[in-house]
Amino acid sequence: MGAIRTLEDVFLDGKTVLLRIDGNSPLHPINNSFLDDSRLKAVIPTINKLTKTKLIILTHQSRPGKRDFTSTSGHAREFQRLLGRSVKFVEDICGEKAFSAIEEMNLGDILLLNNVRMNQEELDCKTNDFESQMDTTFVQRLSSIADVFINDAFACAHRNSPSITGFTYALPCIAGTLMMNELNSLENAMKNPKNPCIAILGGIKVDDSVKVAKNMLKEMIVDKILVTGGVANLFLELSGINIGEINRNFLKKELGNKWEKTCEDIRKIISNYSEKIIMPTDVALNVNGKRIDIGISQLPTEYQIFDLGIQSTFTASSEIKNAGTIILNGPAGVFELDDFKFGTMEIINACAESKAFVVVGGGHTATLINNLGLAKQIGHVSTGGGACLEFLAGEKLFGIKSLEISAKRFGLTIKKLQRELQ
Ligand code: 3PG
Repeated sequence: MGAIRTLEDVFLDGKTVLLRIDGNSPLHPINNSFLDDSRLKAVIPTINKLTKTKLIILTHQSRPGKRDFTSTSGHAREFQRLLGRSVKFVEDICGEKAFSAIEEMNLGDILLLNNVRMNQEELDCKTNDFESQMDTTFVQRLSSIADVFINDAFACAHRNSPSITGFTYALPCIAGTLMMNELNSLENAMKNPKNPCIAILGGIKVDDSVKVAKNMLKEMIVDKILVTGGVANLFLELSGINIGEINRNFLKKELGNKWEKTCEDIRKIISNYSEKIIMPTDVALNVNGKRIDIGISQLPTEYQIFDLGIQSTFTASSEIKNAGTIILNGPAGVFELDDFKFGTMEIINACAESKAFVVVGGGHTATLINNLGLAKQIGHVSTGGGACLEFLAGEKLFGIKSLEISAKRFGLTIKKLQRELQ
Protein backbone atom coordinates (compact mmCIF):
# COMPACT_ATOMS: atom_id res chain seq x y z
CA MET A 1 0.00 0.00 0.00
CA GLY A 2 1.30 3.50 -0.85
CA ALA A 3 1.41 6.37 1.64
CA ILE A 4 -1.96 7.67 2.77
CA ARG A 5 -2.76 10.40 5.28
CA THR A 6 -4.60 9.70 8.51
CA LEU A 7 -6.37 11.77 11.15
CA GLU A 8 -3.19 11.60 13.22
CA ASP A 9 -1.40 13.63 10.52
CA VAL A 10 -3.71 16.64 10.48
CA PHE A 11 -5.25 19.31 12.64
CA LEU A 12 -8.83 19.90 11.59
CA ASP A 13 -10.26 22.10 14.37
CA GLY A 14 -12.15 24.98 12.80
CA LYS A 15 -12.42 23.26 9.40
CA THR A 16 -15.39 22.12 7.36
CA VAL A 17 -15.06 18.39 6.86
CA LEU A 18 -16.82 16.07 4.42
CA LEU A 19 -16.91 12.59 5.94
CA ARG A 20 -17.92 9.63 3.73
CA ILE A 21 -19.02 6.64 5.77
CA ASP A 22 -20.72 3.41 4.77
CA GLY A 23 -23.87 3.47 6.86
CA ASN A 24 -25.61 0.99 4.56
CA SER A 25 -27.37 -1.22 7.10
CA PRO A 26 -30.02 -3.95 7.28
CA LEU A 27 -33.37 -2.25 8.01
CA HIS A 28 -36.65 -3.66 9.29
CA PRO A 29 -38.91 -4.39 6.28
CA ILE A 30 -41.94 -2.62 7.81
CA ASN A 31 -40.69 0.37 9.82
CA ASN A 32 -37.11 0.76 8.49
CA SER A 33 -35.68 0.59 12.02
CA PHE A 34 -32.06 -0.60 12.27
CA LEU A 35 -31.62 -4.37 12.52
CA ASP A 36 -27.85 -3.94 12.91
CA ASP A 37 -26.22 -0.60 13.69
CA SER A 38 -22.63 -1.87 13.79
CA ARG A 39 -21.56 0.16 10.74
CA LEU A 40 -22.70 3.37 12.45
CA LYS A 41 -21.03 2.41 15.73
CA ALA A 42 -17.82 1.65 13.83
CA VAL A 43 -17.36 5.29 12.69
CA ILE A 44 -17.94 6.86 16.10
CA PRO A 45 -14.17 6.99 16.89
CA THR A 46 -13.71 9.15 13.77
CA ILE A 47 -16.68 11.40 14.58
CA ASN A 48 -15.36 11.84 18.12
CA LYS A 49 -12.08 13.18 16.73
CA LEU A 50 -13.92 15.88 14.80
CA THR A 51 -15.86 17.60 17.57
CA LYS A 52 -14.44 21.04 16.74
CA THR A 53 -15.26 20.96 13.04
CA LYS A 54 -18.33 21.53 10.93
CA LEU A 55 -18.94 17.89 10.13
CA ILE A 56 -20.93 16.97 7.03
CA ILE A 57 -21.57 13.24 6.71
CA LEU A 58 -22.29 11.37 3.47
CA THR A 59 -23.52 7.81 3.17
CA HIS A 60 -25.49 5.57 0.86
CA GLN A 61 -28.26 3.20 1.92
CA SER A 62 -28.88 0.28 -0.44
CA ARG A 63 -29.51 0.83 -4.18
CA PRO A 64 -32.42 2.20 -6.25
CA GLY A 65 -34.98 -0.51 -6.87
CA LYS A 66 -34.32 -2.32 -3.59
CA ARG A 67 -36.82 -2.35 -0.73
CA ASP A 68 -34.39 -0.80 1.75
CA PHE A 69 -33.40 2.09 -0.54
CA THR A 70 -34.53 4.95 1.67
CA SER A 71 -33.62 8.45 2.79
CA THR A 72 -30.98 8.65 5.51
CA SER A 73 -33.20 10.48 8.03
CA GLY A 74 -33.33 7.30 10.15
CA HIS A 75 -29.53 7.17 10.10
CA ALA A 76 -29.40 10.68 11.57
CA ARG A 77 -31.79 9.64 14.35
CA GLU A 78 -29.78 6.50 15.05
CA PHE A 79 -26.51 8.48 15.14
CA GLN A 80 -28.10 10.97 17.51
CA ARG A 81 -29.06 8.10 19.83
CA LEU A 82 -25.60 6.49 19.65
CA LEU A 83 -23.65 9.73 20.04
CA GLY A 84 -25.90 11.49 22.54
CA ARG A 85 -25.44 14.63 20.41
CA SER A 86 -27.66 16.44 17.99
CA VAL A 87 -27.31 15.21 14.39
CA LYS A 88 -29.22 17.27 11.83
CA PHE A 89 -30.57 15.77 8.63
CA VAL A 90 -31.28 17.55 5.36
CA GLU A 91 -33.29 15.94 2.60
CA ASP A 92 -30.85 17.01 -0.08
CA ILE A 93 -27.30 16.19 -1.14
CA CYS A 94 -25.71 19.10 -2.96
CA GLY A 95 -28.61 21.40 -3.87
CA GLU A 96 -29.90 24.65 -2.35
CA LYS A 97 -31.45 22.99 0.71
CA ALA A 98 -28.16 21.27 1.57
CA PHE A 99 -26.24 24.50 1.08
CA SER A 100 -28.49 26.55 3.35
CA ALA A 101 -28.25 23.84 6.02
CA ILE A 102 -24.43 23.92 5.68
CA GLU A 103 -24.38 27.73 5.89
CA GLU A 104 -26.27 27.59 9.18
CA MET A 105 -23.72 25.20 10.74
CA ASN A 106 -21.53 26.18 13.70
CA LEU A 107 -18.37 24.47 14.83
CA GLY A 108 -19.31 21.26 16.64
CA ASP A 109 -22.41 20.68 14.49
CA ILE A 110 -23.04 17.46 12.60
CA LEU A 111 -25.15 17.41 9.46
CA LEU A 112 -26.10 14.22 7.63
CA LEU A 113 -26.93 14.66 3.95
CA ASN A 114 -29.46 12.48 2.17
CA ASN A 115 -28.66 9.06 0.67
CA VAL A 116 -25.96 9.81 -1.93
CA ARG A 117 -27.43 7.17 -4.25
CA MET A 118 -30.41 9.50 -4.72
CA ASN A 119 -28.03 11.61 -6.81
CA GLN A 120 -27.92 10.53 -10.45
CA GLU A 121 -24.24 11.39 -10.91
CA GLU A 122 -23.35 9.11 -8.03
CA LEU A 123 -25.07 6.26 -9.88
CA ASP A 124 -23.85 7.08 -13.39
CA CYS A 125 -20.31 8.42 -13.04
CA LYS A 126 -18.34 5.27 -12.28
CA THR A 127 -14.92 5.58 -13.76
CA ASN A 128 -11.31 4.73 -13.02
CA ASP A 129 -10.43 8.21 -14.21
CA PHE A 130 -10.99 9.99 -10.88
CA GLU A 131 -9.92 13.33 -12.35
CA SER A 132 -12.95 13.35 -14.64
CA GLN A 133 -15.25 12.94 -11.63
CA MET A 134 -14.27 16.48 -10.65
CA ASP A 135 -16.55 17.70 -13.45
CA THR A 136 -19.67 16.38 -11.71
CA THR A 137 -21.89 18.96 -10.05
CA PHE A 138 -21.83 16.66 -7.01
CA VAL A 139 -18.05 17.04 -6.53
CA GLN A 140 -17.85 20.65 -7.65
CA ARG A 141 -20.52 21.84 -5.24
CA LEU A 142 -19.51 19.83 -2.20
CA SER A 143 -15.78 20.48 -2.61
CA SER A 144 -16.52 24.22 -2.82
CA ILE A 145 -17.70 24.30 0.80
CA ALA A 146 -15.30 21.82 2.43
CA ASP A 147 -11.63 21.96 3.47
CA VAL A 148 -10.96 18.23 3.50
CA PHE A 149 -12.56 14.91 2.57
CA ILE A 150 -12.30 12.01 5.01
CA ASN A 151 -12.94 8.53 3.74
CA ASP A 152 -14.05 6.19 6.53
CA ALA A 153 -16.17 4.03 4.24
CA PHE A 154 -14.06 0.87 4.03
CA ALA A 155 -17.13 -1.23 3.20
CA CYS A 156 -17.58 0.56 -0.13
CA ALA A 157 -13.92 1.35 -0.85
CA HIS A 158 -14.15 -1.08 -3.80
CA ARG A 159 -16.60 1.26 -5.57
CA ASN A 160 -15.50 4.11 -7.85
CA SER A 161 -18.39 6.55 -7.64
CA PRO A 162 -18.04 10.31 -6.97
CA SER A 163 -18.75 10.10 -3.24
CA ILE A 164 -15.79 7.71 -2.82
CA THR A 165 -13.22 8.72 -5.41
CA GLY A 166 -14.53 12.03 -6.83
CA PHE A 167 -12.67 14.27 -4.35
CA THR A 168 -9.21 12.77 -5.12
CA TYR A 169 -8.03 15.80 -7.06
CA ALA A 170 -10.42 18.32 -5.52
CA LEU A 171 -9.61 18.19 -1.80
CA PRO A 172 -6.97 16.69 0.50
CA CYS A 173 -8.35 13.19 1.15
CA ILE A 174 -7.61 11.57 4.49
CA ALA A 175 -8.33 8.09 5.86
CA GLY A 176 -10.62 7.90 8.91
CA THR A 177 -9.97 5.77 11.98
CA LEU A 178 -12.16 2.86 10.88
CA MET A 179 -10.53 2.83 7.46
CA MET A 180 -7.06 2.64 9.04
CA ASN A 181 -8.17 0.00 11.50
CA GLU A 182 -9.53 -2.17 8.67
CA LEU A 183 -6.43 -1.71 6.52
CA ASN A 184 -3.98 -2.37 9.36
CA SER A 185 -5.80 -5.47 10.64
CA LEU A 186 -6.27 -7.00 7.20
CA GLU A 187 -2.70 -6.18 6.14
CA ASN A 188 -1.36 -7.62 9.36
CA ALA A 189 -3.20 -10.89 8.76
CA MET A 190 -1.97 -11.01 5.16
CA LYS A 191 1.62 -9.82 5.57
CA ASN A 192 2.67 -11.06 9.02
CA PRO A 193 0.40 -13.98 9.82
CA LYS A 194 1.31 -16.00 12.88
CA ASN A 195 1.54 -19.60 11.72
CA PRO A 196 -0.20 -21.84 11.12
CA CYS A 197 -2.44 -19.51 9.14
CA ILE A 198 -5.73 -21.01 8.00
CA ALA A 199 -8.59 -19.64 5.93
CA ILE A 200 -12.12 -20.97 6.39
CA LEU A 201 -14.13 -20.08 3.32
CA GLY A 202 -17.84 -20.77 3.08
CA GLY A 203 -21.12 -19.23 1.97
CA ILE A 204 -22.60 -19.25 -1.50
CA LYS A 205 -20.58 -16.48 -3.14
CA VAL A 206 -18.20 -19.15 -4.37
CA ASP A 207 -16.50 -16.97 -7.00
CA ASP A 208 -15.44 -14.38 -4.40
CA SER A 209 -14.07 -17.06 -2.07
CA VAL A 210 -12.15 -18.66 -4.92
CA LYS A 211 -10.43 -15.34 -5.71
CA VAL A 212 -9.39 -15.07 -2.04
CA ALA A 213 -8.16 -18.68 -2.02
CA LYS A 214 -6.13 -18.13 -5.23
CA ASN A 215 -4.38 -15.05 -3.85
CA MET A 216 -3.65 -16.54 -0.45
CA LEU A 217 -2.21 -19.72 -1.92
CA LYS A 218 -0.18 -17.93 -4.59
CA GLU A 219 1.26 -15.46 -2.06
CA MET A 220 1.87 -18.32 0.39
CA ILE A 221 -0.14 -16.54 3.10
CA VAL A 222 -2.11 -19.60 4.22
CA ASP A 223 -0.96 -23.02 5.31
CA LYS A 224 -4.40 -24.57 4.85
CA ILE A 225 -7.79 -23.65 3.46
CA LEU A 226 -10.88 -25.30 4.91
CA VAL A 227 -13.83 -25.09 2.59
CA THR A 228 -17.38 -25.12 3.94
CA GLY A 229 -20.89 -24.19 2.72
CA GLY A 230 -21.46 -23.77 -1.01
CA VAL A 231 -17.71 -23.37 -1.57
CA ALA A 232 -17.11 -26.88 -0.20
CA ASN A 233 -19.85 -28.38 -2.34
CA LEU A 234 -18.27 -27.12 -5.55
CA PHE A 235 -14.79 -28.23 -4.46
CA LEU A 236 -16.19 -31.71 -3.74
CA GLU A 237 -17.94 -31.86 -7.12
CA LEU A 238 -14.82 -30.79 -9.01
CA SER A 239 -12.63 -33.24 -7.16
CA GLY A 240 -14.74 -36.01 -8.66
CA ILE A 241 -17.48 -36.51 -6.04
CA ASN A 242 -20.97 -36.35 -7.49
CA ILE A 243 -22.91 -34.09 -5.07
CA GLY A 244 -26.24 -34.71 -6.80
CA GLU A 245 -28.12 -32.74 -9.44
CA ILE A 246 -30.09 -30.62 -6.98
CA ASN A 247 -26.90 -29.30 -5.35
CA ARG A 248 -25.07 -28.86 -8.66
CA ASN A 249 -27.97 -26.94 -10.19
CA PHE A 250 -28.25 -24.68 -7.15
CA LEU A 251 -24.59 -23.67 -7.46
CA LYS A 252 -24.88 -23.22 -11.25
CA LYS A 253 -27.82 -20.87 -10.75
CA GLU A 254 -26.03 -18.87 -8.03
CA LEU A 255 -22.88 -18.48 -10.13
CA GLY A 256 -24.66 -17.70 -13.43
CA ASN A 257 -22.14 -16.66 -16.07
CA LYS A 258 -19.27 -17.05 -13.57
CA TRP A 259 -19.79 -20.84 -13.44
CA GLU A 260 -17.19 -21.88 -16.06
CA LYS A 261 -14.41 -19.58 -14.83
CA THR A 262 -15.02 -20.47 -11.17
CA CYS A 263 -14.91 -24.20 -11.98
CA GLU A 264 -11.70 -23.74 -13.96
CA ASP A 265 -10.07 -21.86 -11.05
CA ILE A 266 -11.15 -24.50 -8.53
CA ARG A 267 -9.76 -27.33 -10.71
CA LYS A 268 -6.40 -25.52 -10.81
CA ILE A 269 -6.41 -25.00 -7.04
CA ILE A 270 -7.18 -28.68 -6.46
CA SER A 271 -4.43 -29.84 -8.80
CA ASN A 272 -1.75 -27.38 -7.62
CA TYR A 273 -2.45 -27.22 -3.90
CA SER A 274 -4.32 -30.43 -3.04
CA GLU A 275 -2.36 -30.91 0.22
CA LYS A 276 -3.46 -27.49 1.48
CA ILE A 277 -7.19 -27.86 0.88
CA ILE A 278 -9.35 -29.50 3.54
CA MET A 279 -12.68 -30.64 2.14
CA PRO A 280 -15.57 -32.04 4.19
CA THR A 281 -15.68 -35.75 4.94
CA ASP A 282 -19.39 -35.56 5.72
CA VAL A 283 -22.35 -33.24 5.09
CA ALA A 284 -25.81 -32.62 6.54
CA LEU A 285 -28.78 -33.07 4.22
CA ASN A 286 -32.15 -31.36 4.51
CA VAL A 287 -34.50 -34.35 4.33
CA ASN A 288 -38.00 -32.86 4.45
CA GLY A 289 -36.87 -30.25 6.99
CA LYS A 290 -34.89 -32.70 9.16
CA ARG A 291 -31.09 -32.91 9.44
CA ILE A 292 -29.51 -36.17 8.30
CA ASP A 293 -25.70 -36.41 8.31
CA ILE A 294 -24.08 -38.63 5.71
CA GLY A 295 -20.49 -39.46 4.77
CA ILE A 296 -19.11 -38.19 1.47
CA SER A 297 -18.99 -41.80 0.22
CA GLN A 298 -22.81 -41.88 0.43
CA LEU A 299 -23.14 -39.11 -2.16
CA PRO A 300 -24.80 -38.37 -4.61
CA THR A 301 -28.04 -37.36 -2.99
CA GLU A 302 -31.46 -36.20 -4.12
CA TYR A 303 -31.58 -33.83 -1.10
CA GLN A 304 -30.01 -30.43 -0.60
CA ILE A 305 -26.80 -30.14 1.41
CA PHE A 306 -27.62 -27.62 4.16
CA ASP A 307 -24.64 -27.80 6.53
CA LEU A 308 -21.16 -29.11 7.13
CA GLY A 309 -21.29 -32.60 8.65
CA ILE A 310 -20.62 -33.15 12.35
CA GLN A 311 -17.26 -34.91 11.86
CA SER A 312 -16.02 -32.22 9.45
CA THR A 313 -17.09 -29.53 11.91
CA PHE A 314 -14.98 -31.18 14.63
CA THR A 315 -12.04 -31.31 12.20
CA ALA A 316 -12.51 -27.55 11.63
CA SER A 317 -12.62 -26.91 15.42
CA SER A 318 -9.35 -28.74 15.96
CA GLU A 319 -7.65 -26.83 13.10
CA ILE A 320 -8.94 -23.60 14.68
CA LYS A 321 -7.54 -24.60 18.07
CA ASN A 322 -4.05 -25.06 16.64
CA ALA A 323 -4.01 -22.02 14.36
CA GLY A 324 -2.02 -18.79 14.85
CA THR A 325 -4.05 -16.75 12.36
CA ILE A 326 -7.54 -17.45 11.03
CA ILE A 327 -9.36 -15.76 8.17
CA LEU A 328 -13.05 -16.63 8.32
CA ASN A 329 -15.54 -15.75 5.64
CA GLY A 330 -19.01 -17.09 4.89
CA PRO A 331 -21.27 -19.47 6.83
CA ALA A 332 -20.84 -23.25 6.81
CA GLY A 333 -24.54 -23.86 6.23
CA VAL A 334 -28.06 -22.48 6.36
CA PHE A 335 -27.55 -21.16 9.90
CA GLU A 336 -30.92 -19.37 9.90
CA LEU A 337 -32.55 -22.81 10.42
CA ASP A 338 -32.04 -24.41 13.84
CA ASP A 339 -31.26 -27.86 12.46
CA PHE A 340 -28.55 -26.54 10.18
CA LYS A 341 -26.71 -23.96 12.26
CA PHE A 342 -24.38 -26.43 13.97
CA GLY A 343 -21.39 -26.04 11.59
CA THR A 344 -21.50 -22.24 11.51
CA MET A 345 -22.05 -21.83 15.27
CA GLU A 346 -19.38 -24.34 16.22
CA ILE A 347 -16.81 -22.66 13.94
CA ILE A 348 -17.68 -19.19 15.29
CA ASN A 349 -17.50 -20.37 18.91
CA ALA A 350 -14.18 -22.13 18.28
CA CYS A 351 -12.82 -18.92 16.71
CA ALA A 352 -14.04 -16.84 19.67
CA GLU A 353 -12.30 -19.23 22.10
CA SER A 354 -9.12 -19.55 20.04
CA LYS A 355 -5.92 -17.68 20.88
CA ALA A 356 -5.33 -17.08 17.18
CA PHE A 357 -5.69 -13.64 15.60
CA VAL A 358 -9.04 -14.04 13.84
CA VAL A 359 -10.16 -11.84 10.96
CA VAL A 360 -13.79 -12.14 9.92
CA GLY A 361 -14.94 -10.86 6.53
CA GLY A 362 -18.05 -8.68 6.67
CA GLY A 363 -21.41 -10.00 5.56
CA HIS A 364 -23.43 -12.82 7.11
CA THR A 365 -20.72 -14.16 9.41
CA ALA A 366 -19.88 -10.72 10.77
CA THR A 367 -23.56 -9.86 11.38
CA LEU A 368 -24.03 -13.15 13.21
CA ILE A 369 -20.94 -12.55 15.38
CA ASN A 370 -22.12 -9.01 16.20
CA ASN A 371 -25.61 -10.24 17.06
CA LEU A 372 -24.19 -13.00 19.28
CA GLY A 373 -22.14 -10.35 21.12
CA LEU A 374 -18.91 -12.22 20.30
CA ALA A 375 -17.14 -9.43 18.37
CA LYS A 376 -14.99 -8.50 21.38
CA GLN A 377 -13.51 -12.01 21.40
CA ILE A 378 -12.50 -11.78 17.74
CA GLY A 379 -9.35 -9.96 16.56
CA HIS A 380 -11.01 -8.07 13.75
CA VAL A 381 -14.58 -8.19 12.45
CA SER A 382 -14.55 -6.31 9.18
CA THR A 383 -17.39 -3.95 8.30
CA GLY A 384 -16.81 -4.75 4.62
CA GLY A 385 -18.37 -7.59 2.66
CA GLY A 386 -17.31 -7.20 -0.98
CA ALA A 387 -14.58 -4.70 -0.08
CA CYS A 388 -13.00 -7.07 2.43
CA LEU A 389 -13.07 -9.98 -0.01
CA GLU A 390 -11.51 -7.87 -2.78
CA PHE A 391 -8.79 -6.77 -0.36
CA LEU A 392 -8.11 -10.37 0.71
CA ALA A 393 -8.06 -11.35 -2.98
CA GLY A 394 -5.13 -8.95 -3.40
CA GLU A 395 -7.04 -6.36 -5.44
CA LYS A 396 -6.41 -2.65 -5.15
CA LEU A 397 -9.53 -0.91 -3.84
CA PHE A 398 -10.53 2.30 -5.67
CA GLY A 399 -11.05 4.20 -2.41
CA ILE A 400 -7.52 3.36 -1.24
CA LYS A 401 -6.02 4.29 -4.59
CA SER A 402 -7.80 7.64 -4.30
CA LEU A 403 -6.31 8.23 -0.81
CA GLU A 404 -2.83 7.43 -2.14
CA ILE A 405 -3.12 9.77 -5.13
CA SER A 406 -4.51 12.56 -2.98
CA ALA A 407 -1.72 12.18 -0.38
CA LYS A 408 0.82 12.83 -3.14
CA ARG A 409 -1.12 15.60 -4.81
CA PHE A 410 -1.99 17.51 -1.64
CA GLY A 411 1.24 16.75 0.23
CA LEU A 412 1.94 20.41 0.90
CA THR A 413 -1.57 21.29 2.02
CA ILE A 414 -1.53 18.31 4.34
CA LYS A 415 1.85 19.40 5.71
CA LYS A 416 0.27 22.79 6.43
CA LEU A 417 -2.57 21.09 8.29
CA GLN A 418 0.12 19.16 10.15
CA ARG A 419 2.06 22.30 11.09
CA GLU A 420 -1.03 23.74 12.71
CA LEU A 421 -1.00 20.64 14.89
CA GLN A 422 2.46 21.38 16.27
C1 3PG B 1 -21.93 -3.24 1.20
O1 3PG B 1 -22.92 -3.39 1.93
O2 3PG B 1 -21.21 -4.20 0.85
C2 3PG B 1 -21.53 -1.86 0.81
O3 3PG B 1 -22.35 -0.91 1.40
C3 3PG B 1 -21.51 -1.70 -0.68
O4 3PG B 1 -22.81 -1.78 -1.19
P1 3PG B 1 -23.03 -2.05 -2.74
O5 3PG B 1 -22.60 -3.47 -3.00
O6 3PG B 1 -24.48 -1.80 -2.99
O7 3PG B 1 -22.13 -1.09 -3.49
